[in-house]
Amino acid sequence: MERLETAITRMLGIRYPIVAAPMFLVSNRPLLEAVARAGAIGLIPTLNFRDHAGYRRFLEDWPAGLPFGVNLILRHNPRLEEDLEATVEHRVPLVVTSLGDPTPVVESVHAYGGKVWCDVVNLKHARKAAAAGADALVAVASGAGGHAGAVSPLVLAPWLRRETGLPVLVAGGVSTGEQMLAGLALGDGVYVGTRFIATRESGASEEYKRALLAASPADVVYTPEVTGVAANFLRDSLERLGQDGARPWKDVWSAGHGVALRNDLPPAGELVARLVAGYRRAKAALP
Ligand SMILES: Cc1cc2nc3c(=O)[nH]c(=O)nc-3n(C[C@H](O)[C@H](O)[C@H](O)COP(=O)(O)O)c2cc1C
Repeated sequence: MERLETAITRMLGIRYPIVAAPMFLVSNRPLLEAVARAGAIGLIPTLNFRDHAGYRRFLEDWPAGLPFGVNLILRHNPRLEEDLEATVEHRVPLVVTSLGDPTPVVESVHAYGGKVWCDVVNLKHARKAAAAGADALVAVASGAGGHAGAVSPLVLAPWLRRETGLPVLVAGGVSTGEQMLAGLALGDGVYVGTRFIATRESGASEEYKRALLAASPADVVYTPEVTGVAANFLRDSLERLGQDGARPWKDVWSAGHGVALRNDLPPAGELVARLVAGYRRAKAALP
């Protein structure tokens, strides 16, 4: 199928402006490979590898030339320094930072020609990221899975793009081709988390995937209770919070409002193809 060119596809040399967002304990190598082979790009949090050596093995084994990216958590991350070092050594093409000052990461990654995007939920953080030299912003809006913002996706992405002049990824609720069409009107690419949990390759447990398929937005609760920062979780799984041995993210499951618009567990590459085909159909059907 024909490429869809935006500032984001040009920046990364990919076919489609679709990003499989980094998800703690969910993103894995099979998911990233399937997405990249389908013409999009996927990201993985470096903390999804049990230890730094595991992250290094992943980087060593990744197929040369296949697009991918990693997510570095900047705050309360004891592995940040060594994971950043390995990222630089292996010249990871794309790094997305969350929670903290991205300046040192931008400097290190730009030195080898890599790109850095920053997760932001408001204009203040967007301005800081722009001043630090970010190549694009991830506008994490209300209703997103994980640590979501509180501003509507209809407003956040175009607002940050206008104020900073940077390319913007629309994050929050995107699950279908129609939404991708809206996302490309508001920003330069879509950043899709929750929908990729419900794929064959994702690292979520079968119970998690089943719960997600059964959920509606009314089952998604926005609360700071789990991590100290407001995030969206499935209501029933929140009951496990505080139970013996129950761990945030592993037993307390995150998902966004996008749970409304899924009904199956396709292979991740097929999901990318569906998004593109749905986008084209929706575009042709516009009044
Ligand atoms: C289970 C789960 C785990 C996540 N973990 C991370 C993470 O480790 N780092 C990060 O930057 N964002 C994380 N996120 C947020 C996603 O990268 C992305 O911003 C969000 O999922 C987009 O919204 P959507 O889920 O509505 O598509 C997570 C989201 C989910 C659902």
